[in-house]
Amino acid sequence: MTSIATLGSHCALQVLKGAKDEGFKTLLVCEKKRESLYRRFPFIDDLILVNSFNDILDQRCSTQLAEKDAIVIPHGTLISQMTSSEIESIKTPIFGNRWILRWESDRKMKEEMMIDSKLNVPRSIPSPKEIKGLSIAKRHGAAGGKGYFLTTSEKDYEKKRDQLISDGLIKNDNDLYLQEYAYGVSAYLQYFHSAIKGQLEFFGVDRRYESDIDGLGRIPASQQLDTYRIPSFNVVGNSPLVLRESLLEEVYAMGERFIESAKKLVPPGMIGPFCLEGVYDDNSTFTTFEFSARIVAGTNLYIDGSPYSSLTYGEPMSMGKRIAREIKEAKKENKLQRIIT
Ligand SMILES: Nc1ncnc2c1ncn2[C@@H]1O[C@H](COP(=O)(O)OP(=O)(O)O)[C@@H](O)[C@H]1O
Ligand SMILES: [Mg+2]
Repeated sequence: MTSIATLGSHCALQVLKGAKDEGFKTLLVCEKKRESLYRRFPFIDDLILVNSFNDILDQRCSTQLAEKDAIVIPHGTLISQMTSSEIESIKTPIFGNRWILRWESDRKMKEEMMIDSKLNVPRSIPSPKEIKGLSIAKRHGAAGGKGYFLTTSEKDYEKKRDQLISDGLIKNDNDLYLQEYAYGVSAYLQYFHSAIKGQLEFFGVDRRYESDIDGLGRIPASQQLDTYRIPSFNVVGNSPLVLRESLLEEVYAMGERFIESAKKLVPPGMIGPFCLEGVYDDNSTFTTFEFSARIVAGTNLYIDGSPYSSLTYGEPMSMGKRIAREIKEAKKENKLQRIIT
């Protein structure tokens, strides 16, 4: 019997709850330090205890996963804690396209795919010398905003970069990607692409709650300077959002273009959940500053469904459950090979 497996972090609870509800066995690759947390949840059938998530590459862990006929659901922790080559070398079948995760981790490749998708993308800045207006420096991978910073000049950039180097967060300039700051209000658009049905489903929208940046509004500007430190974008949680209905047409169009581009650039394309992340400006134009090519933690909001999933599915549907449903249907129709890599 097939098991659904994932790493114990990020959206593991939602993924395994959804899998259990769809009738799968569930399996968690769990760091020993988090065992007591995950034992609290009865829908997790088995734990594989590891010292670090990289143990998933070891023979012992691979064998245990194989014995349970596991399919791994990739999420942000997999991407932030492993290199693309390591992810590609995982022996267990992965739900979705494992090759697209490299395009997510590498900011340059990511930019190429967003431009190919004809998304409105902030200009990237090739060298700190070319910083003109307000810009953001970001690390590669899904670092979750930690150590990202805003800057307006080369000199200021160097000061902040050196601080990150001495904090041990980066090694050099190559670990940072510079992008123009996109003005507006943030929105993270969550989608699911059913490769079995050939259908794009819009799942929900969230906003990130990021420390320190989202707390700055509580400190008067004069005192922000007194207590100066580099405000980070470290994600702490997510809150829900619904969009003006008139924005939905473009939401679907952007999702469709992204799927087209992914199919062309990295076969077999975008399978399952993904997210376009950006801001709406005062003309309601969306600028996409990045994407995630797998489930995002913002879907944890909608375990019992979102305003959009209620319209689409007519039953409470989480992203975790939607993934499990896709696997179940693919198995029934003998099409599993189309949705795993
Ligand atoms: N170009 C940009 N303009 C404005 N804000 C940005 C931009 N890029 C990133 N951010 C902010 O930084 C956060 C983290 O950046 P993101 O590219 O999403 O990296 P991660 O892969 O770590 O999620 C975003 O959630 C957003 O608040
Ligand atoms: Mg992001």
